[in-house]
Amino acid sequence: MEVATPISKKLEGKVAIITGGASGIGEATARLFANEGARMVVIADIQDMLGQSVASSIGTHHCTYIHCDVSDENQVKSMVESTVKSYGHLDIMFSNAGTINRNQPLLDLDLSLMDRLFAINVRGMVACVKHAARAMVEGGKGGSIVCTASVAGKRGSDDGMQDYVISKNAVVGLVRTGSCELGKYGIRVNCVSPSALATPLLMEFFGMKDKESAEEAILGNSSLKGTVLKVNHVADAVLFLASNQSAFVTGHDLVVDGGLLCRVGSNKFLGEK
Ligand SMILES: NC(=O)c1ccc[n+]([C@@H]2O[C@H](COP(=O)([O-])OP(=O)(O)OC[C@H]3O[C@@H](n4cnc5c(N)ncnc54)[C@H](O)[C@@H]3O)[C@@H](O)[C@H]2O)c1
Repeated sequence: MEVATPISKKLEGKVAIITGGASGIGEATARLFANEGARMVVIADIQDMLGQSVASSIGTHHCTYIHCDVSDENQVKSMVESTVKSYGHLDIMFSNAGTINRNQPLLDLDLSLMDRLFAINVRGMVACVKHAARAMVEGGKGGSIVCTASVAGKRGSDDGMQDYVISKNAVVGLVRTGSCELGKYGIRVNCVSPSALATPLLMEFFGMKDKESAEEAILGNSSLKGTVLKVNHVADAVLFLASNQSAFVTGHDLVVDGGLLCRVGSNKFLGEK
């Protein structure tokens, strides 16, 4: 008689925090982490009803929601502390919460809007890395920190998202410097850099109400014919960086763009189909 071999899951027993987990990339990653055997996925966000409904649809034995505005360091600190208190330790921090502004050319840049964006995209990411790393050092078992940067952080921009581009460059700097400082504690620090994908953030930037129009607008933003970037593609890359499959990878920026950046300098780039 054949005995079925149990399928090993990539995050068996792990405790993970996902900021911005109520929507888009964060939500898809929360679902994937739970499917991959995570013991607990803590969704930290400011959209309470949405976050709670995502957590209950995943199942309250494996996912929970906590209100946390990442721009407030005290909220980040207590969110990490309550996770460790409730579940014993922290293995994975996916620092993903982010926002975008429209119409921010340098010549007319509204610095107060930029400050708000930086409070989330940069200061918030730093606070999440800092407090997750403290908990991991304390736990003594290392850990994996993954941040969400963007292809926007790998090039310049004159399309109105100048402050966003600067903030995502800073995320890559955070990851590089974090990997240098935290490696001695067995903590890996990496980021994913997706190209455009149809989430509420992008739809708001485009001023579009439906996902289909947003996907239509970004179709052709890659070298891969007929495919468009989806949240699951990004979640798969995050899973790789979060799990032991990437045990010797740190300080890395994993671009998920269907070859878009390779086309810089060719006669086909953003939006040219
Ligand atoms: N959508 C894209 O085209 C794209 C491309 C590259 C990178 N990104 C990045 O991906 C990340 C996730 O965005 P998304 O596209 O899934 O958009 P999204 O709008 O679906 O998700 C962003 C989440 O972050 C949360 N958030 C915003 N401010 C917060 C705060 N102060 N504290 C806690 N949570 C907060 C929102 O409530 C939301 O749930 C962001 O960092 C974004 O910059 C997005």
